[in-house]
Amino acid sequence: MCGIFGYVGPRRAAGPMILDALKRLEYRGYDSWGVAVGIDGHVGLSKRAGRIGDAVVDLPDACIGFGHTRWATHGGVSDVNAHPHLDCTGRFAVIHNGIIENFRTLRSRLESRGHVFRSETDTEVVSHLIEETVGASSEPCTVVEAVRQVFAMLRGLNAVIVLDTVTQQLVAAKNVSPLVVGRGEDAAYIASDAVALVGHAREVHYVEDREIVALGPDGVQFYDSATGAPRAAAFVPLTLREADMSLNGFDHYLIKEIHEQPRVLRRIAENYAEPVHHLAELISEAYGSFLIGCGTSSYAALTGSYLFSRIARRHVNFAVGSEFKYQEHFLTDRSLVIALSQSGETADIIDAVMAAKRAGARVAALVNVPGSTLDRLADFSIHLGAGPEQSVLSTKSYTAKVAILMLTAHVLNGSEHVGREHLWRAVDGVEQALAPASVQRIQEIAAYMADKEHCFVIGRGLSYPTALEAALKIKEISYIHAEGFAGGELKHGVIALVEEGTPCLVFSPIDETRDDILSGAMELRSRGGFIVGISPEPEEVFDIHLPVADVGDASPLVGVIPAQLLGYYLALRRGLDPDKPRNLAKSVTVK
Ligand code: F6R
Repeated sequence: MCGIFGYVGPRRAAGPMILDALKRLEYRGYDSWGVAVGIDGHVGLSKRAGRIGDAVVDLPDACIGFGHTRWATHGGVSDVNAHPHLDCTGRFAVIHNGIIENFRTLRSRLESRGHVFRSETDTEVVSHLIEETVGASSEPCTVVEAVRQVFAMLRGLNAVIVLDTVTQQLVAAKNVSPLVVGRGEDAAYIASDAVALVGHAREVHYVEDREIVALGPDGVQFYDSATGAPRAAAFVPLTLREADMSLNGFDHYLIKEIHEQPRVLRRIAENYAEPVHHLAELISEAYGSFLIGCGTSSYAALTGSYLFSRIARRHVNFAVGSEFKYQEHFLTDRSLVIALSQSGETADIIDAVMAAKRAGARVAALVNVPGSTLDRLADFSIHLGAGPEQSVLSTKSYTAKVAILMLTAHVLNGSEHVGREHLWRAVDGVEQALAPASVQRIQEIAAYMADKEHCFVIGRGLSYPTALEAALKIKEISYIHAEGFAGGELKHGVIALVEEGTPCLVFSPIDETRDDILSGAMELRSRGGFIVGISPEPEEVFDIHLPVADVGDASPLVGVIPAQLLGYYLALRRGLDPDKPRNLAKSVTVK
């Protein structure tokens, strides 16, 4: 959460360039934005609540600066709480991602020593602490040393960057929260996410927790955060391309990414034999495996748990990432934790993985962002290869994770060829679900549902997690209350909410759940429910039938597509921004 972009180089118009780069990071938070540049000992500042939109910055010429897009944690959404935050003298500016857990204590101490705070944020303590540490030392204290000392005072998962307008440096430190440094032709950059560096940097270095990094007129330097001694750091080429980031003619990233799924799945069907075999080996060697994920990734993980039991007759536990640490898992050095995450930065997952590592467990990751924290923590990673997911909603990374887990289950079962065949059928099935005739059907359903308040989604067995994911796709973007259920659970309470015309989505693939799910649909219909059946075959109980291909064990891959499309077209109907739903942000780096 929160997008960060910093620049040091020869371009004098740093401000507008930084603002432009921030637009690419807005999916990390869009409550407010701000840009600061450094000019001869003082800060030029422009910041505002709300989205960047067509904003322009009126800042003096400068060769150094940074910017921030905020997802508010401490302090409401306002101009004054937008980052950057200055110290009392105006020499330093600070941007931050994370939560400083002990900021209240730090703030009251600073206030008692005469510092005046302008904002309600936790971040502002850093500006004043840097001011004190640089100014109060009897020996001259460099800003690098001040950042090292101040960062050690902060509790929590944080990334902090300080702009020193006197030395013309950006100095950064981090704990878990991601930062990546980039080097270009004659300039240096720092960002929360490598996507912001595309078109700027040629090579990148993912900052380690034990590093302090300084960008200034002398280039990029690294220091050890424990001792302050200089240290070396390796850079790797930045492989993302400008073409991966563009809309490619689509109106929104969400619809573009939904349409990219056949390509992503095809790539997995063609290329993933080796990593899938390795994951299957790890599972068979382990004495207890756990699939974990948050949000959409948790539904992919739950789907995996069903797939392993159904295909490989193997129990692979499932836990929601944020709940994992509250259960006694008896993790040992023979356990395997398989962490699923698009971003590789979700704080609850990182937390769970670190706890698993402390217990000696092995960690495998299914992750979309190479170089992310999870990718670096894991003993073994499978990169999803889905390309950048720029819409806040997860789509293509979800189907990629499910496809990989399905293949792994088949490898464990010794039926890899069947898994691959089902996946190829799913590639065709997803293409059919995206064809103009299917899309038109979805648009009609969106028209029917647009003014409804509630919607229920049911599935059984393998389709139960699909129902949960479908409901999430609908509610997070259209703000219609959508609830996913295991079909059998309806009559234990939820059916009380169904009334005349309530839209009910029913997943009915051709598998062992079919008879039971159709009787659930009948029960809904008898209470007035309007039944949208997502199924290979029409059924009498459906008011509308959305045909999907029969693809065997890969049914979650084709089932979810109509729900993704429905979410998108409902958002359009309701005049909402499909790429930036309210209150959400991509990459949830706070707990
Ligand atoms: C929903 C969505 C979120 C994420 C969740 C985990 O569309 O995007 O529920 O799935 O925040 O994110 P990752 O997969 O990056 O760990």
